[in-house]
Amino acid sequence: MEKLIIQGGNPLVGEIRVSGAKNAALPILAAGLLADEPLTIRNLPHLQDITTTMELLGSMGLTLTVGKRLQVEIDSGTISNFFAPYELVKTMRASILVLGPLLARFGQAEVSLPGGCAIGSRPVDIHLHGLAAMGAEIEVSGGYIKAKTTGLKGADIILDKVTVTGTENLLMAATLADGVTTIKNAAREPEVVDLICCLQKMGANISGAGTDTLRIEGVKSLMGVTYDILPDRIETGTYLVAAAMTGGHVRLKDTRPELLEGVMSKLTEAGATVTRGLDWVELQMKGQTLKAVDINTGPYPGFPTDMQAQFTALNAVAEGVGVVVESVFENRFMHVQELMRMGASIRLEGNTAIVTGVKNLTGAPLMATDLRASASLVLAGLVATGETVINRIYHIDRGYETIEEKLMNLGAKIKRVPR
Ligand code: EPU
Repeated sequence: MEKLIIQGGNPLVGEIRVSGAKNAALPILAAGLLADEPLTIRNLPHLQDITTTMELLGSMGLTLTVGKRLQVEIDSGTISNFFAPYELVKTMRASILVLGPLLARFGQAEVSLPGGCAIGSRPVDIHLHGLAAMGAEIEVSGGYIKAKTTGLKGADIILDKVTVTGTENLLMAATLADGVTTIKNAAREPEVVDLICCLQKMGANISGAGTDTLRIEGVKSLMGVTYDILPDRIETGTYLVAAAMTGGHVRLKDTRPELLEGVMSKLTEAGATVTRGLDWVELQMKGQTLKAVDINTGPYPGFPTDMQAQFTALNAVAEGVGVVVESVFENRFMHVQELMRMGASIRLEGNTAIVTGVKNLTGAPLMATDLRASASLVLAGLVATGETVINRIYHIDRGYETIEEKLMNLGAKIKRVPR
């Protein structure tokens, strides 16, 4: 298994390009199941989770043609089965996103139940209740969700909890259902909005994008189009935090700063100077003192849980005390133990981490546990004294495109080595 070796202490300086958003690309790939004609997706990030989704669609018989410039064409005309096996679902929970489209277009699906994961139990009950409300017959047995329908019907659905992939699954199912579906307490994440924009381009009739109430009027069929995935706001935020922690100065291009207002305002509060244009953002931290900040995660437009670990690392080396509250997932503090092994001073109380900044972290051998936790360890390694070795980096490769190349371009001393 490969690992990353980081020599800390270099401020990050320079410019890099932000990749397409993983969490928008995953549902949009699944939307390929809904179209009668090939769907072409551009600005796809080159990530393990994308490869896994393409493998899953390929295993169902779909034809995927990978083109130049981060492009793939998905043709569902060759589909031969409606099965998402445990082997694939266990490596990527987002595989559940094929359930809604398969039911809506083909009337049947058998999808492995995702298990718990490193950040909490993460059930899919809300996805299943919504599909049942639309008339699907659902049975869970032998670790699989077996669902069928003679035709989904529009329904009024109120989500018990704001769920991103739950909203996406139901939304996709509703596009081909008979009649009108409303989804209340829907997720407002930019990735949900990107999926809606793609579905609208394909001919779906959806209103309310970006609000907590979506109205979907089913249509008979959806067509093939070409769609560009929006930039990754979490990747953007992660590199901004890296620049702030290292006392650097970076410019990120091909991004959408308006999608990370909460993150940018916390970075300003932490002492950074953040400037932005329509599709770029710049962070300057040279000569400034990094100050600890309080954060509390929540569904969009709240502070993203996917940036919590990175801000925990930032607080670990900032002046003062930062209180980090994780309100979305029940167990998303796996990075805390590892940061403490580097000398961080953190007290965990339930879903709250109280972080007292220290002058120095020291490099150590570390274990990556989940995607964003791993990113926070990379950030800590960039400022630590000496060498940090991060094991199990397949977690990072699920969500950060060529992370070591991008960091090297900004002047970091980082390399990937085989075990
Ligand atoms: N929940 C339920 N029942 C459900 C669905 C969700 O109780 O049926 C709970 C979850 O356990 C959690 C909360 O609702 O406590 C919110 O979870 P959500 O369903 O929104 O998470 P998700 O859709 O599984 C997506 C992202 C995550 C991101 C969360 C929150 C994708 C593919 N994944 O997950 O991204 O953290 O939304 O914003 O979009 C990541 O990229 O590292 C990542 C984990």
